[in-house]
Amino acid sequence: MSLRDDFFQLQAQTTPFPIGIEVSHAEGCYIYDTDGKSYLDMVSGIAVTNVGHRHPTVVKAIKDQVDRYLHVMPYGEFIQGPQVELARKLKSLLPDSLNTSYFVNSGAEAIEAAMKLAKRYTGRRKLVSCLKSYHGSTHGALSISGNEKKKYAFRPLLPEVYFMRYGEIDDLSMIDEHTAGVIVESVQGDAGVRIPSKAYMQALRARCTEVGALLILDEIQTGFGRTGKLFAFEYYGIVPDILTIAKSMAGGMAMGAFISDREIMACLKEDPILGHITTFGGHPVCCAAAVGNIKALEEGRLVETAEEKGVLLEYLLKHPSIVEVRRIGMMFAVEFESADLVYKIVDKCLEKGVITFYFLSCPESFRLAPPLTITEEEIRIAAKAINEAIEESVD
Ligand SMILES: Cc1ncc(COP(=O)(O)O)c(C=O)c1O
Repeated sequence: MSLRDDFFQLQAQTTPFPIGIEVSHAEGCYIYDTDGKSYLDMVSGIAVTNVGHRHPTVVKAIKDQVDRYLHVMPYGEFIQGPQVELARKLKSLLPDSLNTSYFVNSGAEAIEAAMKLAKRYTGRRKLVSCLKSYHGSTHGALSISGNEKKKYAFRPLLPEVYFMRYGEIDDLSMIDEHTAGVIVESVQGDAGVRIPSKAYMQALRARCTEVGALLILDEIQTGFGRTGKLFAFEYYGIVPDILTIAKSMAGGMAMGAFISDREIMACLKEDPILGHITTFGGHPVCCAAAVGNIKALEEGRLVETAEEKGVLLEYLLKHPSIVEVRRIGMMFAVEFESADLVYKIVDKCLEKGVITFYFLSCPESFRLAPPLTITEEEIRIAAKAINEAIEESVD
């Protein structure tokens, strides 16, 4: 049996129509299939390979760590150099109150743990989130995600979760003295790149402070330079009480973290002890990769150059059927009149060797989130192919 056959037979499927590229290898902004076709990766699988595929600094960090040790003990017991080094590095890059990192395996786990931390710290039960948000696919993360279509089949979900409209200052009154945590994406990703106003984010911060609720900013998709800042909250002049990160954190390795102040984080170690535990969280190879990832961002000035690359790509995307481009840094939603047209364009792009992709909660748009290492020439190649794919897809 071929790999393709057994992929369909033996692996659980998530949709009836997976893309099904059979991957041979990947390097920089390109993925190569087993027939030798190259694909310019304009989504970074998704918002993960901000430093490109197999960045040499990340690969070296991984190899060096593989030669020392792999897993030795669940998170929190042994002192492991790559974990400490990563915690130090993150502290040096973040505001003073985000000084303590807890390393986990994924975005959803970071969200789960952040919700638990907010409940444990405040002694409250209510959680507030936003309509159209996406925070992950586990029960807790799904409970606070705002797309009912993805949730109804899995109820009952967490109780005492309330939803506000994203960006609506009027709805902030839902946050009250009973609220443990408020979970908000700094830019809504899977809702189709929705960029809130600075005034909204500042009012959100102020309301949480006023009532003593912890503000949890989900930067799992927006982190590590995707929006043109290391973290998107920097645009708004606010600091969350808890920051959740994952995806692009470790240059292509599986990792997440939630980060808070030492005093808040301390409550996970007693009453009960082991308030959050994970066997593989903070895996030394992933932590080494994450340190390498930050080095790669810094060496390549990738955060600093994301906005200018985003401006160029936006400028080059030209077709009368584009209804709107929503963009911040190198995070794009390109909107059309119908979802059907979007499906056609994404397929056509793939034929032309350019990978674009859908959003979970915005079928009229496709996403672009290329590696921040993309060159001007690659941007031009991608834009030309996408414009042609649009032209060939409109009736
Ligand atoms: C904003 C946001 N939060 C959380 C998650 C969940 O992360 P993971 O897929 O690593 O569980 C995602 C994934 O797309 C995301 O975009």
